Amino acid sequence: VTTIEGLANDSKADALRAAFVEHGAVQCGFCTPGMIMQADHLMRNGCCGDTGSIKRGIEGNLCRCTGYKKIVDAIAAVSGAPS
Ligand code: FES
Repeated sequence: VTTIEGLANDSKADALRAAFVEHGAVQCGFCTPGMIMQADHLMRNGCCGDTGSIKRGIEGNLCRCTGYKKIVDAIAAVSGAPS
């Protein structure tokens, strides 16, 4: 089982963390570890080809703060998906 701590020294996860901050995708932060883990999984499995696939990929992760757009934008920025 990999946890967010398991990605502490991971360059892809570092890029995701930075993008979440840059795009304002971290508000209360409650969902952020799960979102980073899911985004990392999606990117490692080539499932971030466009914003639709990112939205489908994170649909099981709930965020009560951001409205998801900022999270999708952050993941798209790192994965190279057109936003
Ligand atoms: Fe608050 Fe997602 S940032 S639940």
